[in-house]
Amino acid sequence: MTTSPSRRTVLTRSAAMVGAASSGLLLPEWAQAQSGKIRVGLMLPYSGAFAPLGVAIENGVRMALNEQGGKLGGREIEWFKVDDESDPSKGIENANKLVQRDKVDVLIGTVHSGVQMGIQKVARDSGVLSLIPNAGVHAATRSLCAPNVFRTSFSNSQPTLALGQAMVAKGHKKAVWITWKYAAGDEAFEGFKESYTKAGGTIVKELGLPFPNVEFQALLTEIAALKPDAVACFFAGPSAAKFMKDFAAAGLKGKIALYGSGFLTEGVLEAAGPAADGVMTTLHYSDSLDTPRNNKFRLEYAKTFKMQPDVYAVQGYDTGLLLVQGANAVKGDLSKKPELYKAMEGAVIDSPRGKWSMSKSHNPVQDIYLRVAEKGENKVIGVAAKALADSGAGCRMG
Ligand code: PHB
Repeated sequence: MTTSPSRRTVLTRSAAMVGAASSGLLLPEWAQAQSGKIRVGLMLPYSGAFAPLGVAIENGVRMALNEQGGKLGGREIEWFKVDDESDPSKGIENANKLVQRDKVDVLIGTVHSGVQMGIQKVARDSGVLSLIPNAGVHAATRSLCAPNVFRTSFSNSQPTLALGQAMVAKGHKKAVWITWKYAAGDEAFEGFKESYTKAGGTIVKELGLPFPNVEFQALLTEIAALKPDAVACFFAGPSAAKFMKDFAAAGLKGKIALYGSGFLTEGVLEAAGPAADGVMTTLHYSDSLDTPRNNKFRLEYAKTFKMQPDVYAVQGYDTGLLLVQGANAVKGDLSKKPELYKAMEGAVIDSPRGKWSMSKSHNPVQDIYLRVAEKGENKVIGVAAKALADSGAGCRMG
């Protein structure tokens, strides 16, 4: 065997050069920006407590872009993916894999508020377009807001700001709060405390356990001893199903009313079974919204992904819709930042949840629904808060 370059490798190399030139790799950087593919980075949990949430978000994003023939502003898309494991200690490192190593044009992520803080730092330092498809951490659209960061989901206190009034209206005036102790749970509590006490309710005890623990037993025993009218909580993902089942198995169901920020019953109604029946929640989406927009979305999603969409799928889909509006406005040239941001700030998203717009601090202004879980469905009872905006406290852009 000879190791000198054969005629074949020379030919292959020159063919590769032609290929590189036609795909824009030999063009100067400014020209590449428009002629090459748009690099879309997904930083989501694909393992750990929130793995199904990451999958639903990715499905939603892809669905919105597929509706555009798989293109953004006329340009092809190249995908990059990182599993963030919902591990805040690796947040910055993982975001940099996409931004520094893969040089993505847009970073879509993530689910967990603690991990989001890592992304927020990288987004602020690098200026990369950052779209948040779930994590509700207040700082992202309050004190640490930035022109290049847009959230398409909610702020952590938004759903629970609509919960307290609904509970008191049902006559449940003495409540225990229970959550995972991290930003999402603590900030959901802020919304709950404000709305519940304002409506005349009393919070008799705050209980918590570290994320992602699911050892609920001792806390449920404490709740039984406290005998409140109601329990309100923040849990999400498969662990939320376990919480509802443990609550029922501890003999509390039917004696103490269970409420939650609506993530409690998203994507887990089948797993929770009858333990979820009667659980009342507030959220910016409901599977049972009987609108042509929601029905069409649900049908398409189920056909494409062979599963039912939940709020996470909707948030992913809306992230895709927002990106499409931005990219179309600059004809695919995401380097035109002022025009891109302006288009996204002014976007009205025709979402399966209902139409919503961006607040000044780049967080959705949206209706919050009151829902009750019944036989595998989140039934809408009414609108608990109309066009609710996060306060955006401390946000100064620029
Ligand atoms: C969050 O960490 O911000 C978070 C996670 C899961 C949810 C909602 C919020 O369902």
